[in-house]
Amino acid sequence: MKNFSNYIDYDKKEGWKEGSKFVHGALGSDPMTGSVSFPIFQTATFRFRALGDSLGFDYTRCQNPTIEELERTMAILEQGTEGFALASGMAAVMCALSVLKSGDHVILSDDIYGGTYEIALTTLPDNKIETTFVDLSDLEAFKAAIKPNTKMVFIETPTNPMMKVADIAEISKIAKQHDILVAVDNTLLTPYYQKPLTLGADIVVHSATKYLEGHNDTMAGIVVVKDDKIGQAMRNYLKYQGACLAPLNAWLVLRGIKTLELRMQRHAENTKKVAEWLRNHPKVKKVYYIGFEDHKDYKTTIKQCSGFGGMLSFEVDSKETALKLIEKVDMILFAGSLGGVESLITYPMIVTHHEVPEEVREKLGINERFIRLSVGIENVEDIINDLKQALE
Ligand SMILES: Cc1ncc(COP(=O)(O)O)c(C=O)c1O
Repeated sequence: MKNFSNYIDYDKKEGWKEGSKFVHGALGSDPMTGSVSFPIFQTATFRFRALGDSLGFDYTRCQNPTIEELERTMAILEQGTEGFALASGMAAVMCALSVLKSGDHVILSDDIYGGTYEIALTTLPDNKIETTFVDLSDLEAFKAAIKPNTKMVFIETPTNPMMKVADIAEISKIAKQHDILVAVDNTLLTPYYQKPLTLGADIVVHSATKYLEGHNDTMAGIVVVKDDKIGQAMRNYLKYQGACLAPLNAWLVLRGIKTLELRMQRHAENTKKVAEWLRNHPKVKKVYYIGFEDHKDYKTTIKQCSGFGGMLSFEVDSKETALKLIEKVDMILFAGSLGGVESLITYPMIVTHHEVPEEVREKLGINERFIRLSVGIENVEDIINDLKQALE
């Protein structure tokens, strides 16, 4: 059987710097036509030349060249062996969790993304899978939560929205001693700033809807693994659940990845300035930003990440200030997503974390004064001026 892998010369890319890999992807240009922009193979099915003789593709739910280009690109960037592209980040989360069976136990970060939290509160228990939420920035708490039937730890780091950082290498070391799989949601930092598989994780998950695609216009999810057995389980899940990504959306994510380095640098630069400005504002009581040297997990952050990303959260002095802020922002858009070129502000208590029980939310700090900001790549002075007028 012959497919695109016959044309791949990964070695030539081994010495390339990251930014070049982002721009050129796995194959980059089309090996058949030379098209510099990788083609969108907008087809459901592929013609067989004869019985048992195809070009390696038969049906888009199972394989498609554009989707495969994205999957290979992500495998290269995350330094895994195989990537999987899915219809959304939630589909990717479900795909990673699909290795769990009835009777298993999974440990998850306590202030994980609201949708994942809901899966852990509903779908997993419905399938007789036990769940425990733990502050994974606390290694002792992680160790204490391990049970004989623990099969996976699902880490989000930094967490969304409390910006807690879990030590992936240390957790992986402990997990290996107990035969526990380590899955990491790497949406917030992307492989540009953090590579969980190189730190010992087994599975990486992305909402590619966020930074990877980067333009707030496409839903997509990615899973990357480094073990064939886990890869086979993921492939089967994708194939039989039918949660495959559309070829056009795969192309949009590929196009987004081309500028990932530039965008992440600008997001990070802007976020640092906004975090510092907010910290000095009289109506802002606390800023949650992993780039602050006095952040409680700063040591872990600088050990495992090469940058601080584009997210921050903050608490203002009252509910009135919080509500006025989201109403008065002008260039910054009040919307429930993150990671795109436009700055987005949200009110997690109602928008992203309404599924989380109130007492849990309050304990985490997701209260009525709490705001999350995804800092975009606009001119930072405009971002700060917008916050300034909205906080007046
Ligand atoms: C960290 C994280 N993981 C997963 C998801 C789910 O991704 P999607 O919305 O693409 O399904 C989100 C969505 O906000 C997220 O923020």
